Parts: sequence; C-alpha cells; structure tokens
Amino acid sequence: MGISIKALVFDVYGTIFDVLSVSKACEEMYPGKGEDLGKTWHSKQMEYLFLHQLMGRYIPFSEVTKEGLRFSINEHLGEKLGAAKEQELFEAFLHLTPYPEVAETLEQLKEKELMVFSNGSHNMLDPLVENAGYAPFFKHIISVDEIKQFKPSLYSYQYMLNKIGLKHEEILFVSSNNWDVAGAKNFGFQTAWINRKKQTVDELGLDPDFIFEDLTGLLNWK
Ligand code: LAC
Repeated sequence: MGISIKALVFDVYGTIFDVLSVSKACEEMYPGKGEDLGKTWHSKQMEYLFLHQLMGRYIPFSEVTKEGLRFSINEHLGEKLGAAKEQELFEAFLHLTPYPEVAETLEQLKEKELMVFSNGSHNMLDPLVENAGYAPFFKHIISVDEIKQFKPSLYSYQYMLNKIGLKHEEILFVSSNNWDVAGAKNFGFQTAWINRKKQTVDELGLDPDFIFEDLTGLLNWK
C-alpha cells in the first residue's frame, strides 16, 4: 500500500489534538457555559481564518484564535473579555488534549519521515507540540505563518513541499479537516482523511484517497 510514500505530513488541530478540549478551561471560568463557548470559539476561529485568507488580510492564527474567542464571549455572555482572562483562555490552546491513539501511532510510524504542517502560527504550534511531548516525533514543524497564506491555499502547500524537498507523490497528507484534505488533494498530494466524527464525504470532486476513523489506519504505512 502506497509504496512511494516517504513522508507523512500531519495537520494539527482536530487531527492530533481535540480543539474542543478548550471547553474545559471555558467551563472553569464560566460554569455552565463551557461547551457553548468552546464550540462557538472554534467555529468562529475557522470561519475567520477562511475570511482572512479570502480577503487577503493575513494575520497569525494566534490572533485569529483571539478574534474567535472575543466573538464567542460576546455571543454567549454579552461581555468583553479583559486582557488577563483572554490570555488565560488563549493559553488553553497551548495545552489541548491529544486524541488517545496519537502517541502510540506516531511511535510505531517513526521509521517514516513525520512532519507537521499547520495553519497554527509557531507561537501556538511549537508550545502545543512541546507540551504534549511530541516534538521528537517530527522532522519538521512547518507553519503557514512562514508564507502568510492559510491552507487550503495552493501557495501554502507549495511552500511546504519546497521546504521539505520531496515530490508530491512521496507525501501522504493526513488531516481530519475536510477542507484541508480537499486542499491537499487539489494540490496533488495523496490524502488520508481521519474522519473522526463520521461526517459525509464532501462533493468537491476531490475525494480523499483513504478514509480512516482515527490515526491507527496509518499503520498500513509502517
Ligand atoms: C491546522 C488546523 C487549522 O492547520 O486544522 O492545524
């Protein structure tokens, strides 16, 4: 299976880490509201990311994340968050909970070149990967902040490919985000969609090459 694959390139948020784990910090600060705050925070974070990209108005993901948080607090609590509380909740994004199978799967795949390519800016991505103890697994931790083009822009994937110096067909791009696997497929990578939430496949004419329910499906490439 996939003999030409030399590198597995991973998306981060939703693929390795559970973004909705921020709900816990929200719940501690605002009891009874944690789940709603976390869900709106993440959905606005994603919407704003796409809007910034479409408008040609790039700002780092750390700032996009704070914009989404401010919206969520206003939406559910009708208030503005002070700087100290904003920083405290933002830091929950540096300590997301990894999905249970991640460490063992990465350990078993370590003979492959493993990399991360994320919309996260290095000020979020590096501490997150470090705090989870996963930094030693990855040969490269690449952020779109280096090119200032968010995925799924073609420029972003091209930048990553140039940086790692492999051919398209040598890469298996792994993401749980439907828009990210579609973007990677559109660029010409082989793709594995980690369909954690059992979602319906998108009708974009860019079907993933492989669909797995969690990262253990990748052990075929061990
Ligand atoms: C990533 C997120 C945004 O690129 O899925 O890691």
